[in-house]
Amino acid sequence: MQTDVPPAPPCTCVIFGAAGSLTKRLLIPALGHLAEAGLLSDSFAIVGVARADMSTDAFRAGVRQDAHATRVADWLAERATYLQGNFDDAGTYARLAADLDQLERRWGTCGNRLFYLAVPPDAFAAVAGHLGRTGLSRESSDGCWRRVIVEKPFGTDLLSAQALNRELLGALAEHQIYRIDHYLGKETVQNLMVLRFANGLFEPLWNREHIDHIQITVAESAGVGTRGKFYDATGALRDMVPNHLFQLLTLAAMEPPTRFGADAVRTEKGKVLDAVQRLTAADVARDVVRGQYGAGPVGSADVEAYRRTPKVDPNSNTETFVALRLVIDNWRWAGVPFYLRTGKALSARKTEIAVQFKRAPFAMFRSSPIERLAHNILAVRIQPDEGIALQFNTKVPGLRLRSDGVRMDFKYADYFEAVPSTGYETLLYDSMCGDATLFQTAQEIEAGWRVVQPILDAWREAPGCDFPNYPAGALGPSAAETLLARDGRRWHEVG
Ligand code: BG6
Repeated sequence: MQTDVPPAPPCTCVIFGAAGSLTKRLLIPALGHLAEAGLLSDSFAIVGVARADMSTDAFRAGVRQDAHATRVADWLAERATYLQGNFDDAGTYARLAADLDQLERRWGTCGNRLFYLAVPPDAFAAVAGHLGRTGLSRESSDGCWRRVIVEKPFGTDLLSAQALNRELLGALAEHQIYRIDHYLGKETVQNLMVLRFANGLFEPLWNREHIDHIQITVAESAGVGTRGKFYDATGALRDMVPNHLFQLLTLAAMEPPTRFGADAVRTEKGKVLDAVQRLTAADVARDVVRGQYGAGPVGSADVEAYRRTPKVDPNSNTETFVALRLVIDNWRWAGVPFYLRTGKALSARKTEIAVQFKRAPFAMFRSSPIERLAHNILAVRIQPDEGIALQFNTKVPGLRLRSDGVRMDFKYADYFEAVPSTGYETLLYDSMCGDATLFQTAQEIEAGWRVVQPILDAWREAPGCDFPNYPAGALGPSAAETLLARDGRRWHEVG
């Protein structure tokens, strides 16, 4: 982590859902990494709130263990306290107010409070409502801030997302709400903006004149595992598309913002989603493919069929794979399809944006034995093996004029030292500093659901699908290949 960055301002971080796995796996380790890098103020405290019956000592022991970064584990643990309580019980918030008073004096956190809602989605509105009503989230005239981070999933469709936005905005001001998407915490996702807007090379080519189409792939080799209950009610579309895939889509397709600031960036991202052509039921039938995995080998492991996952309906029609073709109706992208796909239990784990450029016009080599020039493809690998590769044609040495596609490959690991990261460090730090650039606005979230809603509607009307339709370890159903083949295109290799 960079050393030329100042520590975040003093604050108390209140984590609702402190006994859950998000806190343990990601939030505490991320706070540990920030502390290790000197990016937390000395005036910092944590309050963990959860239903679990646990003492502050036990919570501290957990913090110490989960902070990984041993050098700061004690530093973090001594600043941690635990409050047991139900999220819908007013008494919890009264006790929290008393604890905060004490802690703020003890640690000198200037009354700044960061509330993290690491709770089940049906508790978001209740917690925010209590924070608003009790005044715990009220910002005071002496300049102390109160912010609330809301985890995903943000709604399950357009109406529920709108309702949640209304409820949050009934209790908090928009500038206090930080709607998180952990994809925006990934270095390589943030780098998309730098790649596009800090290089004179790419932007002149980044449009319909030069780009044939763009593919966005988030392939996961893991199956649903222990998340059967959540996943069966959610499916690949809701779980991944309006959030993670649309973050990649908007960063790849947005216009250059007037400056690198929250309002300018988020406005441009929102405009992309507003410009996505609305799908009709006929479009959904033609341009959206869903799949569900059956049993099969992924690498050396045998994966059971999705329908045999614990807590999944044995006749479930929930999709574990989705591929879609979207069109963006604006001057930059008219006529350039965007193909998106994501799925579980696929042959490999890979998140990538592949920008395929139009072919050279052939004129010069028409009479040479070069029949097909490979496409120029700029592949931005988000994870794993983070990097950027450019594929272009070159002459194969020899007397005959033959060409072949070769790659220039930049790997992050070759240039930069790896720093331990859960992906939440930047997001936590930014929220403490009041920089909302990497968080979503209410409009952005709703615009994403507006694109997805016709698919949910069409699938509700026609739930029958022939599942399972791909074996674990494959690349999804064959219909996903057809989706591109129909346009004379192919998916970029997954690995
Ligand atoms: C989560 C989804 O939001 O993102 C999971 O709920 C998915 O189903 C995960 O596996 C993917 O995140 P990452 O960072 O592993 O690509």
